[in-house]
Amino acid sequence: MRTVKSPAPKTDRTEDESVLRVSQIISALSYALDLTEGQPMGHSVRACIIGMRIAQHIGMPLQEQGDLYYSLLLKDAGCSSNASRLFHILSADEIRAKGDVKTTDWTRVGWESLQYAITHVATGAPFLERVRTLLRVAATQQRDSCELVKIRCERGASVARRMGFSEAVAAGIFSLDEHWNGGGYPDGLRGKELPLFSRIMNLAQTLEVFLVNRGAESAIAVAGQRSGRWFDPDLVKAVVSLHHAGTLFADLEGEKVLQHVVALEPEHRQILVNEEMLDGICMAFAEVIDAKSPFTFRHSNGVADAAIAIGQQLDLGAQNITFLRRAALLHDIGKLCVSNAILEKPDKLNNYEFEVVKKHPYYTFEILKRIPGFGNLSEIAASHHEKLDGSGYFRGYGAEQLSLPARILVVADIYDALAAKRPYRDAMPIEKVFSIMQDEASKKLDPQCLEALTTAHRKESPGSGLTDLARALNNSVVSNQKEAFV
Ligand SMILES: [Fe+2]
Ligand SMILES: [Fe+2]
Repeated sequence: MRTVKSPAPKTDRTEDESVLRVSQIISALSYALDLTEGQPMGHSVRACIIGMRIAQHIGMPLQEQGDLYYSLLLKDAGCSSNASRLFHILSADEIRAKGDVKTTDWTRVGWESLQYAITHVATGAPFLERVRTLLRVAATQQRDSCELVKIRCERGASVARRMGFSEAVAAGIFSLDEHWNGGGYPDGLRGKELPLFSRIMNLAQTLEVFLVNRGAESAIAVAGQRSGRWFDPDLVKAVVSLHHAGTLFADLEGEKVLQHVVALEPEHRQILVNEEMLDGICMAFAEVIDAKSPFTFRHSNGVADAAIAIGQQLDLGAQNITFLRRAALLHDIGKLCVSNAILEKPDKLNNYEFEVVKKHPYYTFEILKRIPGFGNLSEIAASHHEKLDGSGYFRGYGAEQLSLPARILVVADIYDALAAKRPYRDAMPIEKVFSIMQDEASKKLDPQCLEALTTAHRKESPGSGLTDLARALNNSVVSNQKEAFV
């Protein structure tokens, strides 16, 4: 077996996380939620700033502002949970559909909602099939919309609770899609039955989307048109007043928006991160990532388990193993930008689709690098599809650039991807998984990491005779499994 020397491990966290604030982590991770919603990165952060300006203008007590702040940042925490269902209803790219629905008044039957349906339903299907799907979608639209919103708001509220936020935060997220006139979902709440947080959040997110897509005047006009239907008229008045004062949409451009949003967290409510909270946030976001598709159910946790097993086998020490676990839990956060039309495609991906898939580690890097102190972790997490021979993606790194933790993550990711059921094949017997990986090891995977994983597995399942079995198995399936490493 050829061994490839790995660069010195950089698993020790030299960056000081003790001064990190929860708002810095959540605001950076909210960029992943934006991708899932088909919005430009920074949507949640800008909506948070707008919402907080509304709250301050109406004199919301500081205590409540602290909860509203996190409700706004996490308003889309449930967005991945209905992606698969929406894809199956529309038979088309659900990210595009989610993105465009934010500028559509879907509560009114008319040209606008018809045009939306024509643009987003069964877009790649033959004419007759499209018509059939359109009719089916029209017939079940109300029921499906309610179901989709319910899945999303239940999951969003549960993610917030899991992170340790209050019931007020969870309730705000739960009722995000309710409307002032009772025409929203999931419960058709009316007027002041809606939590104030939800009223502010829905208005703030709509303003942000129209601001970015059509400009400030258009955003204010839409708020006025939907006042009394979607939105609380008093809040719309507050928005108009803030706009006239020139403060509603100030400083919402560029990268500095992240600093603005962190500064907006009410001072007395600022939460500093401890190790336990950081683990909780990583686990909650792993849940968001894995909820995107039934085929990735538990993938992030599976990769974390495998990475920990390798780390322990290599005696890396507790701190480095904690680092590995967090990198593993977040490694596929960029996958939230890939449509389920691609993730759940049962056939081979075409070139365009594969190019989209290949971008997901890039987005992992783009999201995680925004968290102060996560420089090294973002590099490692974003390298999980690189290979020692330079044939991986997204940077085509070779052995010289892949540190030990990166190599561990590569092996752990492939192991879990092969062991799980995928749209194009059933789950693989564990012996076959190791057989395929053994074949790859000579040129692409770190043999030391693979050996550590094999040993850890053998310890856990004594008598499996894994290595012998693996070598005895036919390796010809390798060339057919490239997509499995996604
Ligand atoms: Fe991946
Ligand atoms: Fe993965």
